[in-house]
Amino acid sequence: MSKDQESLIQPTERSTTYATYLKVSELLELQEPLTVPAQHDEMLFIIIHQVYELWFKQILHETKRAIHAVASDQLLMFSRVASRIKTIQTILTSQVEILETMTPIDFNAFRDRLNPASGFQSYQFRELEYRLGAKEPAYLRFHAHDPKATAILTQALKEPGLYDHFLQLLARRGFALPAELLQRDVSTPYQASEAVLAAAVKIYREADAYYDLYSALESLIDLDEGLLLWRQRHVAMVERMIGNRRGTGGSSGVKYLSQTLSKRFFPEIWDARNWLGDAQYDHSKDTSSTTK
Ligand code: HEM
Repeated sequence: MSKDQESLIQPTERSTTYATYLKVSELLELQEPLTVPAQHDEMLFIIIHQVYELWFKQILHETKRAIHAVASDQLLMFSRVASRIKTIQTILTSQVEILETMTPIDFNAFRDRLNPASGFQSYQFRELEYRLGAKEPAYLRFHAHDPKATAILTQALKEPGLYDHFLQLLARRGFALPAELLQRDVSTPYQASEAVLAAAVKIYREADAYYDLYSALESLIDLDEGLLLWRQRHVAMVERMIGNRRGTGGSSGVKYLSQTLSKRFFPEIWDARNWLGDAQYDHSKDTSSTTK
């Protein structure tokens, strides 16, 4: 042993150690394949989903901080948090590749055993959609069997999402958004608004004057695109794995997932792209004030 290694601490039974702090033993007990005899790839399937759920937990933790930052006008903090979420999203998307080392034959060897479980029932994924602003109450019923998930989703549904908070911030910054938008029932799906589009176009066109808002718009679209890229990667993997067969959750599978690709959390920020460059947005309809 080198001199350096000799100084390493030998923990006692009462010390906080790597294993006790991180609950490693408990963590490693949480993978319970259902197949008998055990199918080799079921372990990968369980671990990859558990890793996703841990990252969803972290993203939700950060999303709540992002909401707090926007609600308290701390846009620098918001951009930093959004940048962390985006980095995690990149990992989530690239992780799909690991699953593709499993062939459809390997997957079919245990697929029937997990029926009707499906990622569709991930309540953290749905909470994330709600917290970002995509309020779709119809998803709640798929969690009716689980009181904990129902309580979490009901709470997320009734609290304003990130986008609703951002619209309030635009109003505080002098953009004249309609009262019915600012006082909308936040538990219902969001409808894109001409006034928000006008505000976004103005911020992009006058980026120097509205630099913090401009950065915030780019951070928001980063998050929206980050989730879209995961959806695209997931649906391609699903088609490769099960073709056009039905999902274990009971949906039409690839057909259902392809429809979700048109979801946008922040629609006007995407639409604003249609009015940049040489496109002429009609600012006579623009209700935004000039406060900067
Ligand atoms: C072999 C691997 C996988 C297959 C074949 C697969 C297949 C599917 C299918 C067919 C659906 C549609 C719902 C249904 O009818 O089941 C779905 C939804 C979903 N899956 Fe996967 N999936 C796989 C892996 C994963 C992984 C690793 C995750 C990570 C958490 C995941 C997360 C989700 C989520 C969140 C949804 C809901 C999407 C939405 O409603 O917008 N899936 N999956």
